[in-house]
Amino acid sequence: VKQATPQALSFLDEALAQARVEGLLRVRQAPPPPGRLCLCSNDYLGLADRLAPAEMTGAGSSRLVAGDRAVHRELEAAAADLVSQPAALVFTSGYAANVGLLSCLAGPQDLIVSDALNHASIIDGARLSRAHVRVVPHLDVEATARALADPPPGRAFVVTESYFSMDADSPDLAALRRVCDAHGAALLVDEAHALGVLGPGGRGLCAQAGVLADAVVGTFGKAFGAGGAFVAGCESLIAWLWNRARSFVFSTGVSPMVAAAALDGLRRAAGEPGRREAVLSRATRLRAGLAARGLRVLGHGPIIPWVVGEPRRAVRFAEALVVRGVDVRAIRPPSVPAGTARLRLTVTAALTEADVDHAIAAVGAALAESAGWPGA
Ligand SMILES: Cc1ncc(COP(=O)(O)O)c(C=O)c1O
Repeated sequence: VKQATPQALSFLDEALAQARVEGLLRVRQAPPPPGRLCLCSNDYLGLADRLAPAEMTGAGSSRLVAGDRAVHRELEAAAADLVSQPAALVFTSGYAANVGLLSCLAGPQDLIVSDALNHASIIDGARLSRAHVRVVPHLDVEATARALADPPPGRAFVVTESYFSMDADSPDLAALRRVCDAHGAALLVDEAHALGVLGPGGRGLCAQAGVLADAVVGTFGKAFGAGGAFVAGCESLIAWLWNRARSFVFSTGVSPMVAAAALDGLRRAAGEPGRREAVLSRATRLRAGLAARGLRVLGHGPIIPWVVGEPRRAVRFAEALVVRGVDVRAIRPPSVPAGTARLRLTVTAALTEADVDHAIAAVGAALAESAGWPGA
């Protein structure tokens, strides 16, 4: 049974019906069955089924030409289920997912309201759409409402991440949903850094807030350990992406091998909850240990940003940690605003409690050493 299209995306049904009437609706295309000559693949050297370790290494072409495989659909069903949306579409990366989604949903008459710290792929997708873009201060729901109050003539979209990877903070998704509903705007949420780790069963922060977004972006290259990404939403949205998301239509399908790895990652994340519990408890331990040493650590969850200010200082701290056996990377402008260079400590389930304690001690020692640095 086809699920209802959210009101804010109902324009897609009309456009899809029109494409169907014109014979322009795109559908998935499997490779030729055995016994049929394949003259429809870009697998020029015939390597796609031969590379170690797995069979089915390459999709051979776009999924609209001949690259669609059962594993893609299995992965899409699992991704949709993860975020409790009716359907999903797999992209080769989160970058491609955001660019494809935004550039084919919004047009020059429309408005995209975007959080100031949204990821580059969201910014680029918004630019490609040629919509009016209003950038609102980070996490500012009231500014979002104001931006929607006086829109251009077209449709409106609000786009945010659910867990910002540079600041480890999160928007009030329930409040954003209310604001979107009040203004007939669609809510698009990138859960790249949340899925697999945050929210009930690792199902993300929309699930935690009890919010149904109009589109959810997730990646398989972060918590799920593989690569590729997806957009999930109503069936009309997914049909629209099949037809219009240029980063999907004009791109070779995700390698079936990567898709199989991603599916395995999703299943293991769900079936081995101890991993999620471990990462969250280690993160809590690290936060507490750093705070006890007087550090102002930001946010929540597995990412722990420690803002030190100047880029040289961030690099110096990173070096001081490396010599103590702790590898933390310095994040500098333009990845973060000028004057907010930081060390981003990212906790994984692979760390033991002893590892965390070692890291806390190393930070403490680096801090003590920094008192003697020039300009300290
Ligand atoms: C919020 C967000 N969205 C999308 C992406 C892109 O995902 P991918 O690495 O799969 O291209 C990233 C990071 O890489 C991200 O942080």
